[in-house]
Amino acid sequence: MKTRITEMFAIEHPIIQGGMHYVGFAELAAAVSNAGGLGIITGLTQKTPADLAKEIARCNAMTDKPFGVNLTFLPVIAAPDYPGYIQAIIDGGVKIVETAGNNPAPWLPLLKENGIKVIHKCTTVRHALKAEGIGCDALSIDGFECGGHPGEDDIPNMILLPRAADELTVPFVASGGMADARSLVAALAMGADGINMGTRFIATQEAPVHDNVKAAIVAASELDTRLVMRPLRNTERVLTNAAVERLLETERERGAHIKFEDIAAEVAGVYPRVMLDGDMDAGAWSCGMVAGLIDDIPTCQELIDRVMEEAETLIRQRLEGLLTA
Ligand SMILES: Cc1cc2nc3c(=O)[nH]c(=O)nc-3n(C[C@H](O)[C@H](O)[C@H](O)COP(=O)(O)O)c2cc1C
Repeated sequence: MKTRITEMFAIEHPIIQGGMHYVGFAELAAAVSNAGGLGIITGLTQKTPADLAKEIARCNAMTDKPFGVNLTFLPVIAAPDYPGYIQAIIDGGVKIVETAGNNPAPWLPLLKENGIKVIHKCTTVRHALKAEGIGCDALSIDGFECGGHPGEDDIPNMILLPRAADELTVPFVASGGMADARSLVAALAMGADGINMGTRFIATQEAPVHDNVKAAIVAASELDTRLVMRPLRNTERVLTNAAVERLLETERERGAHIKFEDIAAEVAGVYPRVMLDGDMDAGAWSCGMVAGLIDDIPTCQELIDRVMEEAETLIRQRLEGLLTA
């Protein structure tokens, strides 16, 4: 399949693996890229730029296909060493960066001067237009269904994607709730040039996370995610567990007076405990509603091949068949 996204990133299939904290290590990024998609290393999971440089080198040793690095611009006072991380990306020869969070404008000139293509992740059409205006090459449009941070506007992809298609000129991928060939074909029909998957890629053989995490995703239904940190305007969609229910109780109790410190125990430092140690009740960790569509743990190659083969059947038989019936 050829779309503006496969052309732009020189990949075989229009499928991207979104950056994921403590999931997007070299093993997963290389597996996705080797399977013809675009794998992405999560920059900030690496504690220092030197660590990121090593992770990029490991990925380069595992694949000769293109892969990217996610840079999440957090709303924090003590910002990570972004110039250092960007230098590691440049020195590692990575040509694709997925930006997310705050406006990437301050970093675009440096990335562009070094021939790096930028795909910015956003959850509203107005942010997407802004990103297009400042020169981002492509966009990843995250609907309300998504695992992670869906923003505060709560527009699901059935509306968000056609709205994005109506307004944008640059290519975009549909993100949030994407799991299979049906997702891909629907996203293409709504004007996207491919899909970005997060939660689906965690439940793969190569995702270097504890088996408990994969089992929890397979066991979860579409009813099992919760929105936390809403009152702090930093909404995150997470899989429910004992810590999440405690957190939500605190949010109800504290109401408008809530501060980050009130819920820090349930959200700070949680990812390594969940992803590496498999401590599933350690706190709140991102997971999409799409968990309800995930019931196996394939290799990345099996997953991507299945999506592409079934997409072809869907288009050629089901859709075409409807017209000729
Ligand atoms: C466990 C997990 C961690 C994530 N961490 C990040 C992150 O660090 N930076 C980021 O930009 N997006 C992050 N995301 C969002 C994903 O890149 C992607 O946009 C999202 O998962 C898409 O929704 P889906 O899970 O329904 O496929 C994370 C998602 C999950 C599930």
